[in-house]
Amino acid sequence: MTRTTPIRFADLDLDALEGTEGRVVVTVTPEGTLDPAARRANRLSKGAVKRMVESARFAKAKSGDVITLAWPAGMAAEALDILVLSKKADAVAARKAGAALVARAAGAPVLLALGSSHVRSAVLVQGMVLRSYAFDAHKTGEEDSDATGDITVMHPRPETLEAEAVPLLAVAEGVLMTRDLVNEPANVLTTTEFADRLAAMRDLGLEVEVLEEADLEKLGMRTLLSVGQGSATPTKVVVMQWKGGAAGEAPLALVGKGVVFDTGGISLKPGAGMEDMTMDMGGAGVVAGTMRALALRKAKANVVGLVGLVENMPSSTATRPGDVVKSMKGDTVEIINTDAEGRLVLCDVMWYAQDRFAPAGMIDLATLTGAIIIGLGHENAGVFSNDDALCGDFLKAAADEGEGAWRMPLGAAYDKMLKSRVADMKNVGGRPAGSITAAQFLQRFVKEGTPWIHLDIAGVASIKEGTDLAPKGATGWGVMALDRLVRNRFETE
Ligand code: BES
Ligand code: MN
Ligand code: ZN
Repeated sequence: MTRTTPIRFADLDLDALEGTEGRVVVTVTPEGTLDPAARRANRLSKGAVKRMVESARFAKAKSGDVITLAWPAGMAAEALDILVLSKKADAVAARKAGAALVARAAGAPVLLALGSSHVRSAVLVQGMVLRSYAFDAHKTGEEDSDATGDITVMHPRPETLEAEAVPLLAVAEGVLMTRDLVNEPANVLTTTEFADRLAAMRDLGLEVEVLEEADLEKLGMRTLLSVGQGSATPTKVVVMQWKGGAAGEAPLALVGKGVVFDTGGISLKPGAGMEDMTMDMGGAGVVAGTMRALALRKAKANVVGLVGLVENMPSSTATRPGDVVKSMKGDTVEIINTDAEGRLVLCDVMWYAQDRFAPAGMIDLATLTGAIIIGLGHENAGVFSNDDALCGDFLKAAADEGEGAWRMPLGAAYDKMLKSRVADMKNVGGRPAGSITAAQFLQRFVKEGTPWIHLDIAGVASIKEGTDLAPKGATGWGVMALDRLVRNRFETE
């Protein structure tokens, strides 16, 4: 699969700064204080670090900036990167700084020499891991590889740093799993392959069940099944349970849209850009990555992840516009546009989640609408909720993790736009407020008393430009925010 660079933690050995090839990184504070490693680099380079710190250039530097001395005298390194890092840097800034170091190295090995402990050392390392990701599973030539070089972090107490980094690296692993799933093409990541990768997480202590078409038929999940009926790839629902909390305590339910490819169905999408619809399982990808993170760090909470895995294809067996299908809940839906399929996937899986688990909260994630990209671009996911307390906690968790999230409205006037001539509702509400009417559709399947959040991640799941933490393509947006929400609101003790 993908290559990510394992971090090597090592004892602080100042002599290593002289002979190390690749890039050597040392830190200074914005006030110009040099730690022992920076002092050694200064001595080796005959005072270059001090001269830099005393320069007008440095006077303008902010925490998080990196200033590079190329081919420094007295050192074997191709570059000495000087990271300006404030003692007061917050976690998001430190993570971003770590990522920036790796991005700048562009494949060269990196030796980060932390001469003294910094409160943000562990999250700095997490940032390095997040940015060392390269999806080159399908590139056969070494030449073309985007892979990162070796990363070594030296620290006065490497075991302490490593121990502190363990939960953060667990979360990073979840993020990387999400990216792998989202980046994978649809001929590789079929519904079957997706379910197999989730089932493999049984090794981490997750309970994983795979519901097949016959099971879904019995449960009455006709809206979900109607989306997949034109595809040769079977529709599946995968249920992942993490029972780290008190026995019998109601879980948090995470529900993901897992459309492994979205052609639009009979309401076929235009050809240009259709290849991007390999990422239409992004919601399911985030659910999977979050469950992985929770299991790896043995979260003390009960969380259940459910994903609807399905492919939206046109064929003689596909759903037609005008068809009427019945949901598991019992409500009927007139299919106006077979390209509005995500809500048909989610409504049945959400109903099943509530029916079976009576969750303490439910969060669904989906690359649901193009309209959310028009509204919020690639900076923020759309957040819709019926519960101010849960929503507030989520928005805070997202802000604390540096993941953009912006609340959008719901309301009866929008709900009316779903009125159908022949069924209980139609599956589209027209062009105005497209993301909101999609959310209204989902809300019809939220039971009275279930605190619920819908996250429309169409703009943030995969981005054509690299971000602070990820190269071009899948971002893994949401894993860190959801992990933190679980920590803050659902973990005991
Ligand atoms: N998967 C798409 C939404 C999407 C668009 C995700 C762009 C990522 C990038 C979704 O299934 C879809 O096709 N939505 C339609 C809804 C419309 C038919 C009401 C859309 O947004 O155009
Ligand atoms: Mn669609
Ligand atoms: Zn879709």
